[in-house]
Amino acid sequence: MRKARTIFVCQSCGSQSPKWLGRCAECGTWNSVVEEAAGSLTVDASLNGGAGAAPVRLTDVPVQSVEARCATGIGELDRVLGGGLVAGSVTLIGGDPGIGKSTLLLQLADRLARVGHTVLYVSGEESIHQIRLRADRLGVRNDAVWLLAETSVDRIIEAVKHHAPQTLIADSVQTLRSDALESSAGSVGQVRDVAGRLMVMAKHTGTATFLVGHVTKDGAIAGPRVLEHIVDTVLYFEGEKGHPYRILRTVKNRFGSTQEVGVFEMKGYGLAEVANPSELFLAERSHGSSGSVILASAEGTRPILVELQALVTYPALGTPRRTANGIEAGRLGLLLAVLEKRVGLGVSAQDVFVNVAGGLCLEEPAADLGIAVAVASSWTDRPIDPRTLVFGEIGLAGEIRAVPQADSRLREAAALGFTRCVLPKRNAERLTDPPLEIVGAEDVHEALEALGVR
Ligand code: TYD
Ligand code: MG
Repeated sequence: MRKARTIFVCQSCGSQSPKWLGRCAECGTWNSVVEEAAGSLTVDASLNGGAGAAPVRLTDVPVQSVEARCATGIGELDRVLGGGLVAGSVTLIGGDPGIGKSTLLLQLADRLARVGHTVLYVSGEESIHQIRLRADRLGVRNDAVWLLAETSVDRIIEAVKHHAPQTLIADSVQTLRSDALESSAGSVGQVRDVAGRLMVMAKHTGTATFLVGHVTKDGAIAGPRVLEHIVDTVLYFEGEKGHPYRILRTVKNRFGSTQEVGVFEMKGYGLAEVANPSELFLAERSHGSSGSVILASAEGTRPILVELQALVTYPALGTPRRTANGIEAGRLGLLLAVLEKRVGLGVSAQDVFVNVAGGLCLEEPAADLGIAVAVASSWTDRPIDPRTLVFGEIGLAGEIRAVPQADSRLREAAALGFTRCVLPKRNAERLTDPPLEIVGAEDVHEALEALGVR
């Protein structure tokens, strides 16, 4: 085969050169030049439903998305996919090495095979014997699951054409390479070219495709980030080291809502779905100690109750330390400043540690009130009533702002035996028939008073 011509393109200004440069000659940006195949890929013909380049009337396009969805048999995965797997979709599953991506996808292959799919599992990292060993451990034993250890995307596409599987799993995109480019597997150019070719293949053949992508610690280099705009759906598989819980989070979804999460637990026989995460995250809560508060978070459409813990102590060294696990460090700094300035809590000179129990990561602002209350409780050394919970966003003036889904948060709390909730006043005013006692607070001061930690 004749080698396709490649060019080197600066990702920041778009200028082209025939060879690789460490620094773009046009705009002077370092490390921005990436190899690309000349005459770049297009998905147009297949995306146009076979109509070539001709425009089609909106109303003439047949509606097909609904019936093309298929339940995977893993409920937590269906939830993050937006209600099931769509034929021809390309889903990227990103995550740290060792978090359980291969495990999840092998279990998925099994479930899909049980509902009649032929699944091709391509690995560029492991031999088919290693995969077989893992499969035995997971109890996966199915004739409709095919394995292929291969790194050439051209040969993978040939295999897909030959076997015509309904689902293709490519593990991982960083180990695959396209012959069109000279750069090594895992480089930005390769990763993008491989994903682009598999995308064209998926749209053309209707094969639901999963791409595994390793995230490096800074999350940027040749990792899933460069693919996010190419693929249809981006899921991140997260979890804290040392915790068995794994969170599958939707970052982008062309077929459903984002912000959805699925919860799994890593066990000896693979990943198990966690249908009621609140019970799990509250199972080991500390009773009656200061610095602990239950927060109703709503990651996605499902409320999850979690325990937030804070410890405020005199600094061991001169400069006060702040450590945040499961919440953003910047957010903690901001809330400590609000507590200091608006409530007069002298925490700025103290060491402050905040932890979300169970290894969950809280991203929504409704966690603010929980963080502030946990810190105040530890500072005053007064415990929060164990059957009271909180949620609400805090503004810089110390005001408590309304958050979405107050209703479902309260219902989840009532179902788990909570009797009282301190929440934003604006939310409280709009609730007609709350399932437990509610206390609307206008600012942090009021909330802390209501909880007895002022
Ligand atoms: P793996 O799926 O190989 O991770 P990734 O593909 O994201 O790199 O999972 C690796 C970890 O999961 C490994 O540390 C062992 C653990 N594990 C279990 O605890 N139980 C199991 O049944 C399996 C298969 C793996
Ligand atoms: Mg793996």
